[in-house]
Amino acid sequence: MENSLPKHIAIIMDGNGRWAKKRFMPRSFGHRAGAQTLNKLLKEADKIGIEHITVYAFSTENWTRPKDEVNSLMNLLREYIDDYIKDNETSNIKIDSIGDLSRLDEDLRNKINTLKEISSCKKGLNLHIGLNYGGRDEIIRAVKKMYGELKSGSIKESDINEELFSSYLDTNGIPDPELIIRTSGEMRLSNFLPWQSTYSEIYISDKLWPDFNIKELNKAIEHYKNRDRRFGGR
Ligand code: FPP
Repeated sequence: MENSLPKHIAIIMDGNGRWAKKRFMPRSFGHRAGAQTLNKLLKEADKIGIEHITVYAFSTENWTRPKDEVNSLMNLLREYIDDYIKDNETSNIKIDSIGDLSRLDEDLRNKINTLKEISSCKKGLNLHIGLNYGGRDEIIRAVKKMYGELKSGSIKESDINEELFSSYLDTNGIPDPELIIRTSGEMRLSNFLPWQSTYSEIYISDKLWPDFNIKELNKAIEHYKNRDRRFGGR
């Protein structure tokens, strides 16, 4: 039987650097093109009824990139948020973030909070942006929160189960992604949603992220629909 449309698609937007290199342009040019690709796909995904998209925009490991690349990614994010706020009335998309924002500059954290507030009344697709996100880091932060509540007595050991643990993760309230797309041909998850991806179908596209378009998105969805999902059963 065919699967229905996935409610939640998570995306590893890989290949911006290679895309720029092929054009003899700086990596920041590739990231900028990547942001435009994301916007086009969000509109389409919203139109066809996808409820959640999570993207890996900046990982806990990305801090090790050269400083000018980190700065250009942060500036791109600032611009992305400013553009959303400026055109907010025309957008149907609700935005929040996953990841540990405490390492970001204060002005950026404030912008992200404004963005969340402004978009909270939107009724369309939910975009979750991974910012200083790392799956292991998320799990450690969840364990620490849970430990604090165990110590204070607001939960007890016998309360601990998968559902309770999930509620301490950044993705609390978001269904697990049924489909994870990674572009540029790499076959790994790179610390992206390790807890949430347990039963996700994984689609690897050879396209570099800026070249990933609506046709490719539909191909990934069709592929997902035809997969036989057994969840460990038969
Ligand atoms: C991986 O490609 C991509 C990133 C580390 C950044 C992804 C960010 C964007 C697409 C910017 C848009 C997002 C928002 C929300 C503003 P890479 O640089 O590792 O590419 P490479 O593997 O070809 O070097």
